[in-house]
Amino acid sequence: MKISEFLIDKDKSLKDALRVINNNGQGLCFVVENFKLLGIITDGDIRRYLLKATKFGPKVSEIMNKNFIYFHVETEASKIRQSLKGKIKFIPLVDDDFKIVDIANLQKTHRIPILEPVLEGNEMRYMQECIETNWISSQGRFVKDFENLFSKLHCNLPAVSVSNGTNALHLSLKTFEIGEGDEVIVPNITFAACSNAVIHSGAEPVFCEIDIDTWCISPIEAEKLITDKTKAIMIVHLYGQVADLDAFRNLAKKYKILIIEDCAEAIGSEYKGKPVGTFGDVATFSFFGNKTISTGEGGMILFKEREKAEKSKILRDHGMHPEKKYWHEFVGYNYRLTNIQAAIGFAQLERFQEIIERKITIYSWYKLFLKDVSGIAKLPQELELSRHSNWLFTLLLEEYLDKKTVMKSLLKKGIESREVFYPLNLMPPYKNYKCSKNTSNSQNISNNGISLPSSVNLSRDDIFYICSSIKKLLDEF
Ligand SMILES: Cc1ncc(COP(=O)(O)O)c(C=O)c1O
Repeated sequence: MKISEFLIDKDKSLKDALRVINNNGQGLCFVVENFKLLGIITDGDIRRYLLKATKFGPKVSEIMNKNFIYFHVETEASKIRQSLKGKIKFIPLVDDDFKIVDIANLQKTHRIPILEPVLEGNEMRYMQECIETNWISSQGRFVKDFENLFSKLHCNLPAVSVSNGTNALHLSLKTFEIGEGDEVIVPNITFAACSNAVIHSGAEPVFCEIDIDTWCISPIEAEKLITDKTKAIMIVHLYGQVADLDAFRNLAKKYKILIIEDCAEAIGSEYKGKPVGTFGDVATFSFFGNKTISTGEGGMILFKEREKAEKSKILRDHGMHPEKKYWHEFVGYNYRLTNIQAAIGFAQLERFQEIIERKITIYSWYKLFLKDVSGIAKLPQELELSRHSNWLFTLLLEEYLDKKTVMKSLLKKGIESREVFYPLNLMPPYKNYKCSKNTSNSQNISNNGISLPSSVNLSRDDIFYICSSIKKLLDEF
């Protein structure tokens, strides 16, 4: 849906307006003068006018509605959504000069959102099957099908589905009996779910500086933090970037500690030809709405050992004995995924290769179009022999640029962007835990990093538009 398909110049005729409406198929168009929004006209307005008409051939500006709903392009998506109801299916978004820059609808409130799921395969059909068969809870064929296909895509390691990526981390820690008195090394730049899961397990997170190139946890810095209490290192493959897995495997062997791979942002990434998530003792995934494979909310755990996978399934289901109903072996949780969520996930996995290939193509377009743009300090760097699956394309701006102003200017062009996480060690709930002495890399990426739209459905033209907008904008600074 292009904006141009909805626009008509104020001096055009009603017949021209009908042509525009007929072509866009949405029953309305917006009247403009040099992109400045003047009014709205629907096919109903034209019909009503013609039925009463005494003169023919007026300009659209003579019969358009001047009272209509619009929002400034920087308005929060949730506020726009509240107005998209009843007959209001499209809302124009304008810039400071009242020029139309975007058209919001229920599927898409901004022209280029940062990330959105694309549910174009069998998702609806499989969900309908759940409802028609009444299997809407955590029993049903899709939970098994989803786990089996996930396992197949990950070197046949046992896969255990859970209700989200945070619970996947928590359940992993509890399966390995990590708790009070233990320490888990966590990267200082990651989503807070990583440290929250450790704290909820009873253990203490120890925040580790990130690597200057991969932006993932640094093996050199991690080694400095290992103590007698260290039980595990949580490796987060940030934004789809792959951490230095060989270095961590050496550390794990040397110090007899566990490796937890958090692949929430990196499904489809590879290291030395093998998928991430198959290197650690345990690996976790998230299927939140903005993730590469999405079930709305959901998660998965991969275990190296089948025995641990079986134990985690018991913990996932209240600690209940798998054969002796209502006999509890452990104090467990309810972390199950529903059949409906698994149905969506299974349909998504059916298109796994296609989705990952598309994400990687988007990555290559960004790298091509943003090469040598002044104002950009760094594009993502990949480790040799790794494959970046580009969950979220992220770059570092030069320090002289004001990140917030750049993001605001992008939004005015209908392009959403996102800030990099804050260093965990600086935030109130985490600031009393141990941390690497030097956190300048964390600070740098947090201060200067922005992420750009990376949804699977973006076209080469979209990426070109985003990159040329950035280039133009940065040239103006
Ligand atoms: C690195 C990382 N770990 C864990 C999570 C938590 O996943 P969820 O939102 O499914 O609980 C996320 C989620 O966004 C994440 O980015």
